[in-house]
Amino acid sequence: MRVDYTLLTKTIDALIDGETDPIAKMATIACDVHHSDDRFDWTGFYRVVAPELLKIGPYQGGHGCLVIPFSKGVCGAAARENRVQLVDDVHAFPGHIACSSTTLSEIVLPVRDCAGNVIAVFDIDSNQPAAFTSDDAEQLQKILDRAFAN
Ligand code: SME
Repeated sequence: MRVDYTLLTKTIDALIDGETDPIAKMATIACDVHHSDDRFDWTGFYRVVAPELLKIGPYQGGHGCLVIPFSKGVCGAAARENRVQLVDDVHAFPGHIACSSTTLSEIVLPVRDCAGNVIAVFDIDSNQPAAFTSDDAEQLQKILDRAFAN
């Protein structure tokens, strides 16, 4: 199954409409994004809980590592650089953190608040090589901005 971003965006908008709790919104987004596409094998958030420190948030899939400093991993790079990380081959990414040995590609996007501060990152792992596209990055960032930056 391949995601329909128009439908996914409308569904998430409706599900979180009026919701102010970020954890509730993250749990809902992780669930519906995860189940929207067969490429998505792990889908979840890492929250900024202290300066330069990420901690796992709501996710779908196998267990993930609990804590990631901004200096490490694809997630740390997305938080540090405030920029999407589109990784076609995780084994070629210096310092990639392998929460699963089956992950081959990954996309991690910054989650920003209305002031533009990075409050979390959104991580999707795939067991398929080069699974993610620039359109995935654009569409997923729109969903995250609508949920957290408005
Ligand atoms: N691969 C991520 C770590 C999170 S697990 O994939 C859920 C990274 O390198 O930051």
